[in-house]
Amino acid sequence: MTTYLVTGASGHLGRLTVLALLDRGVAASDVVATARNLDAIADLAALGVETRAADYTDSASLKEAFAGVDRALLVSSSAVGERVAQHANVIEAASEAGVELLGYTSIVGADSSGMILAGEHRQTEELLAASGLPVVLLRNSWYLENYTAQAATALEHGAVLGAAGEGRVSAATRADYAAAAAAALVADDQAGRIHELGGDTAFTLGEYAATLAAESGTEVAYQDLPAAELTATLVGAGLPEQFAAILADSDLGLARGDLLTESGDLSRLIGRPTTTPAEAIRAALA
Ligand SMILES: NC(=O)c1ccc[n+]([C@@H]2O[C@H](COP(=O)([O-])OP(=O)(O)OC[C@H]3O[C@@H](n4cnc5c(N)ncnc54)[C@H](OP(=O)(O)O)[C@@H]3O)[C@@H](O)[C@H]2O)c1
Repeated sequence: MTTYLVTGASGHLGRLTVLALLDRGVAASDVVATARNLDAIADLAALGVETRAADYTDSASLKEAFAGVDRALLVSSSAVGERVAQHANVIEAASEAGVELLGYTSIVGADSSGMILAGEHRQTEELLAASGLPVVLLRNSWYLENYTAQAATALEHGAVLGAAGEGRVSAATRADYAAAAAAALVADDQAGRIHELGGDTAFTLGEYAATLAAESGTEVAYQDLPAAELTATLVGAGLPEQFAAILADSDLGLARGDLLTESGDLSRLIGRPTTTPAEAIRAALA
């Protein structure tokens, strides 16, 4: 019997990964889901999953949570700027538990990406390599939801805003990335593997806007802005300055091809084509 642990189960990707493990036929009693606040994953407990409290900043809680675990997925923390220290604590707990496989949700092209957001992932990958643990890297490109969650705003203003020029992004749904993580965790040939994960068909933001227009029947077009102007617009819409600047920097990375992969790794891992932008838009508008 193999016990699987998924961190960040209160978040979107962690929860979907737990559900994807169950979909693959892993017994709920063989799955441990962790979160800072167990109330946030009570729905998973109701499915028979064991829930354990673990905070990435609290080594003792992590060590308790990892006890008896065979394979684990570290879902990267959302605390940008604090992630390396947090992930180091998780890696230490996984080492102490002697896990036979540790997955990590990194960023596509982590070793070459020039995006600010890639730095913490690269450092985490270095910690993982130094740990000597059997590791599988799930290097995710952008979520399609980064765009579809903004669909209503884009339709209201008739514009998809960005600073990505003609760059192409291999965005895929969180559910597809979660299915890939679950597939990698249950397989027996994954130690040492690096998956560059993204949607089957990369697209420009202009193409995304055209698909949104076609699916919604509403006029909407891509408006390319200088990065500083995009940052100022996002701040004007209520985003904190630092976060807005990181998003604009990510669009510059997108323009360079930092979020592009044509590896085919995602559809290969999940055994089917990835969800298309049109399908994701349809689901978001429904
Ligand atoms: N590829 C992309 O487009 C993209 C976009 C956004 C983020 N990401 C990265 O991918 C990760 C997963 O995405 P997501 O959509 O699932 O993000 P999410 O819904 O924001 O989930 C983030 C998870 O991190 C947990 N977390 C934060 N600080 C923690 C701590 N100190 N201890 C334990 N858990 C902590 C959160 O727990 P709480 O519920 O307790 O806060 C939550 O479960 C993100 O955290 C981020 O690193 C990728």
